[in-house]
This record gives sequence, structure tokens and C-alpha cells, in this order.
Amino acid sequence: AWSAAAGEREVLLAAPRSFCAGVERAIETVERALEQFGAPVYVRRQIVHNRHVVAGLERRGAIFVEEADEVPDRSVLVLAAHGVAPAVRAQAAERHLRVVDATCPLVAKVHQEVRRYAADDNTVVLIGHADHEEVVGTIGEAPDHVLVVSDPAEAETVDVPDPSRVAYAMQTTLAVEEAAETAAVLRQRFPALKGPRTDDICYATSNRQAGVRAIARRSDLVIVLGSQNSSNSRRLVEVAEAAGAPAVLVDDAGELPLDRLAGAGTIGITAGASAPPTLVDDLVRCLSGLGPLTVTETGEPTEDVRFVLPKEVTHP
Ligand code: F3S
Repeated sequence: AWSAAAGEREVLLAAPRSFCAGVERAIETVERALEQFGAPVYVRRQIVHNRHVVAGLERRGAIFVEEADEVPDRSVLVLAAHGVAPAVRAQAAERHLRVVDATCPLVAKVHQEVRRYAADDNTVVLIGHADHEEVVGTIGEAPDHVLVVSDPAEAETVDVPDPSRVAYAMQTTLAVEEAAETAAVLRQRFPALKGPRTDDICYATSNRQAGVRAIARRSDLVIVLGSQNSSNSRRLVEVAEAAGAPAVLVDDAGELPLDRLAGAGTIGITAGASAPPTLVDDLVRCLSGLGPLTVTETGEPTEDVRFVLPKEVTHP
């Protein structure tokens, strides 16, 4: 049973949470493309890693495909927020597709760094998860120059052809502290290591991790809204757990693990950068149906980052 003294369960909402500027831009890009060009609009891969977002856009006429070669010639193809390898753009050009690029500008920045380091004949050690779409796209900028390491242990053993020509870059959605440790190992092993002036982990990732860390310390259970293939959402679960709270990742209130709510008087809630804010409202409503509830928001709610839309959907 929960907090006997107050008789109420407490919900702590982490701030910031839910959509980041890159995700908002990507979703709006598909919406605008649908308005401007009419359905169907094709989207390569999930526009952002969230089941609800994808289903919502499908209902409005978006067709999600794995590769550009599945798309009829001359159609509109939106490239997802995670970015793509140059080979994908070439494939789209071959089919005369009208490409609208929804790659997050902060991912595009990492691509640019990798291109620049590789052009200078550096080996680029890319800190990230080799099978994640963002990393696959980034590697594609210079496949012969990039080596991926996922953690400090791999950084200890990575072998580079010329230790005087090494640089590093990162996936944007890593756990901030672990990535810093990994970079520190590289810096120690390769004193000539070059790196980005500011961290590649994006503002949205680090802010959401700081937010969940703050509520996790006071929560009996942390619920993270997000899809299983969302890297930044999974990291929120890990950060909450590292701060001492058990945590679960669910797509929506329907997946709520009721058995785990039993002993939890204080429940922390956050949402990954690709998870719609309405899911949080729904979850709170669902919890309030289980008994009395007080809801408190903690953290830094203001994030004023905005990105301009791709020009293809702003100049008809
Ligand atoms: Fe971009 Fe970061 Fe969001 S890289 S898509 S702002 S999680």
C-alpha cells in the first residue's frame, strides 16, 4: 500500500521531458509535406523512434519504408531525424525522389565533424551503439575512417593505425557520464586526440537525464514513457536506476506494470525526447484513477531551442 500517512500517492514529473526540438521539427516536416505534396508521402525508417508518432502519421497518409528503393520513382521521401549515410541520398537521387531531409541539425553537426576529421586523414573513434540508426548513418560519412566503441572498456582496447591522427565524436543520445568516461579513456591513450569543441550529446539528452536523476532520488519507482528502440529513452531508465530507483520503460499507460505500483508511494515520471507529451497526461490520468494523487513538477521546464524547418517544406 502507498503512503499511509498522507493516504495519497505522490507523482513527481521530471522537467524537461518529452519532445525535443529535433523531434518536433521532424514530425512537423512530415505534416507539412503531407499538406504541401498530398498523400502519400514516404518516410524512410521511423521518423522518430516512437510507436505512437509513427501510427499517427500513418493515419494521415505517411508510408514508412525501410529503404529508398521501395519508393515509386519521383515520389516524396522524408529522411528521418536520425540522419542517413550519403549512400542513401545517392539512392534517392537515382530514383528521382523529391527528398525532404528531417535529419536533426544536431546529428548533422556530428556528420560534419566526422567528414572533416576523416578528410584530414584521422581515424575517428565514434562513441555510440554500432547498431543504432544514427550511428549507422554517421559511419556512412567515412566508413574507412570510423571505428565504433560503446563503452570505456572498448575504448581501452581499440586499435588505431596512427595514434597521432585520432579524433572522436559521439552519438547524440548517450548516457552523459558514461560517454565522458569513454572519452577520458581515449584522451589518456591518445594524447593527440582531437574532439568536438562542445559535446556531441545533445542538450535534450543531457537535460532529460538531469531531470530524471533529480526525481529518481525521491521516487520508489520511475516510469519512463518511450518506445523500446528509443536510445535516449533507454538511457533515462539507466540513469534513474543508477540514481537508485527501479525504473520501467513503457510505450503508454496501457503497459503500466500494475504489480510494481503496489509498494510505490512516490512515482517519478518522465518521457523520452521522441515520446508525445499527451502520453504523460494519459499516464497521470490513469494513475489518478487508482487512488488519490498529488502531482508535482520538478526541474527546469524551460527549453527554448527551436530549429527551422527544411526549406523543401517552407517554400512551396
Ligand atoms: Fe536532435 Fe537531440 Fe532530439 S539530437 S532529435 S535534439 S534528442
